Amino acid sequence: MKYSLSLATAALSLAAKASAEVFIVDNDTPTALQVLLPLAAGKQVLGITTNLGDYDTDAATYEAAMALATGNLTSCVPVYKGAEQPLVLDYNTYHLWQDLYGDIVWQGAWGKTYESPVPANATYEYNQTVGAPQWIMDTIKNSDDNVTIVAAGTMTNLALALAQWPSMAEKVKLVIMGGYVDGQIAQVTGGDFVNDLYSDFNLMIDPEAAQAALSAPWRELVIVGNISSEVFPTQNLYNELIAVSGGLAAIKNTPSLSYVEETVGNGTLPSFNLPFWDEVASAIAADPEIVTGSYEAYVSVDTSFSSPFYGSLRMYPKDLRASKGVRTSKATMITSIDVEKFNEMIVDALVRDWSNYCSTGDAPSVAIM
Ligand SMILES: *[C@@H]1O[C@H](CO)[C@@H](O)[C@H](O)[C@H]1NC(C)=O
Ligand SMILES: *[C@@H]1O[C@H](CO)[C@@H](O)[C@H](O)[C@H]1NC(C)=O
Ligand SMILES: *[C@@H]1O[C@H](CO)[C@@H](O)[C@H](O)[C@H]1NC(C)=O
Ligand SMILES: *[C@@H]1O[C@H](CO)[C@@H](O)[C@H](O)[C@H]1NC(C)=O
Ligand SMILES: *[C@@H]1O[C@H](CO)[C@@H](O)[C@H](O)[C@H]1NC(C)=O
Ligand SMILES: *[C@@H]1O[C@H](CO)[C@@H](O)[C@H](O)[C@H]1NC(C)=O
Repeated sequence: MKYSLSLATAALSLAAKASAEVFIVDNDTPTALQVLLPLAAGKQVLGITTNLGDYDTDAATYEAAMALATGNLTSCVPVYKGAEQPLVLDYNTYHLWQDLYGDIVWQGAWGKTYESPVPANATYEYNQTVGAPQWIMDTIKNSDDNVTIVAAGTMTNLALALAQWPSMAEKVKLVIMGGYVDGQIAQVTGGDFVNDLYSDFNLMIDPEAAQAALSAPWRELVIVGNISSEVFPTQNLYNELIAVSGGLAAIKNTPSLSYVEETVGNGTLPSFNLPFWDEVASAIAADPEIVTGSYEAYVSVDTSFSSPFYGSLRMYPKDLRASKGVRTSKATMITSIDVEKFNEMIVDALVRDWSNYCSTGDAPSVAIM
């Protein structure tokens, strides 16, 4: 009796400890894993905020709503629509810059052939009471917990919030996807896809917001950088997901396995895959222990339109950071993660029954051992 009682106490205090860190997911391409990884690590996700980038902001909002609906998570993870355009750039100047300095491989929502992925008749739920920047400020102001923002899109919502409340940054740990450095050799020798992998699209589509956000005085700033372009889905990961889910037929016939089904499809890894960009950022935020290599650097973002590096992250030796011409902030730059542990986190997060999480706070694993 004493034994199980102390176990229960231990479990309780673990939950209390875990809930002291709460998450906001700010993204142009919200996917289920960005929410499920922190939830599976015992963190609370207060909401998803959306912005322009790969998609227009309405489409990002739709993607967020769909990702949550699959797991019946709509009622406890609200979605707030954010900035629809960058601070300074517009469609014309975005393309004018490329006329001057060269095409960005991936053009996102401002690509000349972009089409919204939202079906004409789509209905989806998001909270329309306030916009994302206001909600982010209110949430941080009212939270007694430590807030972590995982920002994997443009930094526009954060820049807008910081303009109104600059010291917001001091209360927040910010983890971003992107912030590539040392990619020039790879970009010129690797072809279009490798060039794309090391293009900081999220920063380039709103360089001014990126500089406002990344040079702010965050409680902690983590730049996931290069490593997220190097971790891809693998057939081994698919095989593991399929095995612990009880096979492809079980996946197809079990509603609680719909996140697995969306991930593995027919079970064969597609021949073309994108890296786990945003998911790596989310996993590092959810469990910093998967980081196996990092260093610290002072960073800023180039905001000179008349520069071929407009929107690129720059790093400074410590003794140059006091320069008056540019505000910098100290960041932890990630160079390696435990990929095996990362894949285990994905399997753990996907192979769960999330359908009662909103009512019970629990999502039991449905993995077959
Ligand atoms: C939306 O339209 C498509 C075909 O155009 C149809 O298959 C689908 O059922 C419709 N969805 C809703 C929610 O009406
Ligand atoms: C929408 O968000 C506002 C601001 O956070 C909150 O007060 C309200 O309860 C939310 N509405 C719903 C239906 O959840
Ligand atoms: C927030 O994080 C700091 C360290 O960064 C820690 O000292 C503090 O106890 C944390 N607060 C809560 C409520 O967990
Ligand atoms: C970033 O990635 C490029 C291309 O793979 C590599 O050459 C470079 O060493 C990496 N830099 C860091 C700091 O990880
Ligand atoms: C399975 O899906 C992959 C990726 O979507 C596709 O390339 C492949 O042709 C499919 N295979 C079968 C047997 O349907
Ligand atoms: C979905 O979640 C709600 C609570 O938000 C719960 O009442 C309902 O039973 C759940 N639906 C399913 C199919 O589990």
